[in-house]
Amino acid sequence: MITRSQPYSLQENFEFYIQRVNTYLKKIMGDNPDAPYGLIEPMRYAVLGPGKRVRPLLTYASAELFQLDMKLADPIATAVELVHAYSLIHDDLPAMDDDDLRRGRATTHKKFGEAVAILTGDALQAVAFKVLCTDPFLSKNPITQIQVISLLARVAGPSGMVGGQLLDLEAEGHMIDESSLENIHQRKTGQLIKAAIMMPSKLANSSENTMENLDKFASNIGLVFQIMDDLLEAEQNTTTLGKNAQSDIRKEKSTYPSLLGISETRNRADELYEDAMDYLESLGENAAGLRWVANYIIERDR
Ligand code: IPE
Ligand code: IPE
Ligand code: MG
Ligand code: MG
Repeated sequence: MITRSQPYSLQENFEFYIQRVNTYLKKIMGDNPDAPYGLIEPMRYAVLGPGKRVRPLLTYASAELFQLDMKLADPIATAVELVHAYSLIHDDLPAMDDDDLRRGRATTHKKFGEAVAILTGDALQAVAFKVLCTDPFLSKNPITQIQVISLLARVAGPSGMVGGQLLDLEAEGHMIDESSLENIHQRKTGQLIKAAIMMPSKLANSSENTMENLDKFASNIGLVFQIMDDLLEAEQNTTTLGKNAQSDIRKEKSTYPSLLGISETRNRADELYEDAMDYLESLGENAAGLRWVANYIIERDR
């Protein structure tokens, strides 16, 4: 187990946080003693692959903002990444985006078959909630623990991510207006990212003003994340992305570049990012980590 004492800044230590969540993810993957090996292997494959771990980084950065004990952030960062990993497995299925490549490797259904991939996603979602329900540090305060669990359940569910995924499929093959597209992006991607930032705030005593500014930052940066995903897919190559750069075009997806063009999409991402930064301004020095991850989100090349 990695141990390191505070204070440390995310800016200098993002690799440390990535290792930290990877350690927890590995531990959790090894913590299902009765599960069939036929499920454990694809679970490990889907979760422990080379993802960017942006959502856990946001959780740790938010925990830094509130100066929380990082032991409280670990189960949240782990759970949010597990929900994300499950969503990617299902997103890539033939019935959805039908993609063969993810994180530079075969998608889970290509490697293990479609039925196993579906069950792997189902299993990861359940494990995510088990982590939050059974974590010894979160369990010390059952009221805030339930608030964290409820928030994740809401954003992952029909009003959030899964609802967004349905709207995304319904929007294939025809044009929709920008506010409908924003709604899809907020639901399918933005809300989980927002929850990664807001879950730690449930464990802190913070002012209404802080919560409002953080909430607005989180909404903006969640949307920026998916707009950048659209933009990178339109501009970047498959090797760098580690996923198929032609996927959106092939599926006639509604995306920001298809609706607004490349340069207007870039402007939209920049505007939202600037607004996000303004909201962080009032949160002071301890928001340095969030600033760093937000910058990474808009500057990234994959
Ligand atoms: C890709 O997310 C899918 C979206 C929700 C846009 P990421 O870009 O965070 O994927 P990984 O985890 O780094 O592979
Ligand atoms: C993925 O969105 C959203 C979820 C998995 C919930 P996309 O379909 O646009 O992301 P990529 O491009 O496949 O990573
Ligand atoms: Mg999709
Ligand atoms: Mg996809």
